[in-house]
Amino acid sequence: MSADLTTRYLGLELSGPIMASAGPLTGTLDGLRALEDAGASAVVLPSLFEEDVIEEELHLADLLDDGEGFAEFASAPLSEAAADYVLEPERHVRLVERAKAALGIPVIASVNAAHPGSWERYATILVEAGADAIELNMYSVAADASESAADVESRKLDIVSAVRAAVTVPLTVKLSPFYTSVAHFAAAVVGRGADGLVLFNRFYAPDIDLDTLTVRPALTLSESDDLRLPLRWLGILRPQLPETSLAASSGVHTGADALKALLVGADVACTTSSVLRRGPGHVTTMLAEVRAWLDANDYESVRQLRGSMSAASVPDPAGFERAQYRAIVTTLGR
Ligand SMILES: Cc1cc2nc3c(=O)[nH]c(=O)nc-3n(C[C@H](O)[C@H](O)[C@H](O)COP(=O)(O)O)c2cc1C
Repeated sequence: MSADLTTRYLGLELSGPIMASAGPLTGTLDGLRALEDAGASAVVLPSLFEEDVIEEELHLADLLDDGEGFAEFASAPLSEAAADYVLEPERHVRLVERAKAALGIPVIASVNAAHPGSWERYATILVEAGADAIELNMYSVAADASESAADVESRKLDIVSAVRAAVTVPLTVKLSPFYTSVAHFAAAVVGRGADGLVLFNRFYAPDIDLDTLTVRPALTLSESDDLRLPLRWLGILRPQLPETSLAASSGVHTGADALKALLVGADVACTTSSVLRRGPGHVTTMLAEVRAWLDANDYESVRQLRGSMSAASVPDPAGFERAQYRAIVTTLGR
């Protein structure tokens, strides 16, 4: 009999261990349907960014100030004007509603706000639209030299508490790997009521255009090698956060990548870059690879495999990491 691929994430029963993380494909109904058809067991919709809402409000204010623009807007038949002018939060609300109506798999909505108060406001709107869970995309760069690490962390933890108090659906937090103590911060996020963690968000470092002397944002899709950082931290955190749902993000491109993430303790492996490169149908290939490996290695289920290579049996994970580091640099460098 073929292995059971089901898994559980944020209390949601999932049909398999490959989930679609936020990205362009999860932003359209066609993309979402194709991902579900290929076997994605849940989807995370693109983040609702507060800056988009603010820009839009400013644009609307400009239209109202500028007689011509407003006249054009106001003279259009009401339904046409309304159809053309879907406000940013409303666009996300509609996507949640349409995704829920069209899909059978869980739909997770993502929020990235910029001000206290906004995180819980947007999360509430998206839950009211039907989101099965909320993911907080805490992408930010702590660039203020006067703000300490403790202050940055405390600000973020207060956001988690505020959203936790505002919504009753499961809550997961997509972390960055750039904390002095990733393990301590991860545990603190869970302490504030998060049901799950996504390790990790991918940071887009800027590049410089030497012809125009401008800073240009560079989008590079991940490679399988990028999975190594999530692997390390999933393995370290799994035994310390036994009740917390863990999702792997960054570098999941193949069934083998997903298997590694599960082995160190992830409940689910998320992918964006691989389906952007190869199309949503690639999820089917990844699932077939996972199934074939489980069958060939006599595993009955994903649940049996999950966490069997975490750091649970390592009494001193920091010492283990140090020994690995020493072994690598001394072998290669001397
Ligand atoms: C074009 C693009 C758009 C993305 N948009 C979002 C987003 O709206 N919210 C978010 O949390 N992550 C977003 N991500 C990050 C992905 O969800 C994912 O965490 C990251 O790409 C690492 O996974 P991967 O290696 O499978 O690509 C985006 C990634 C890409 C490439």
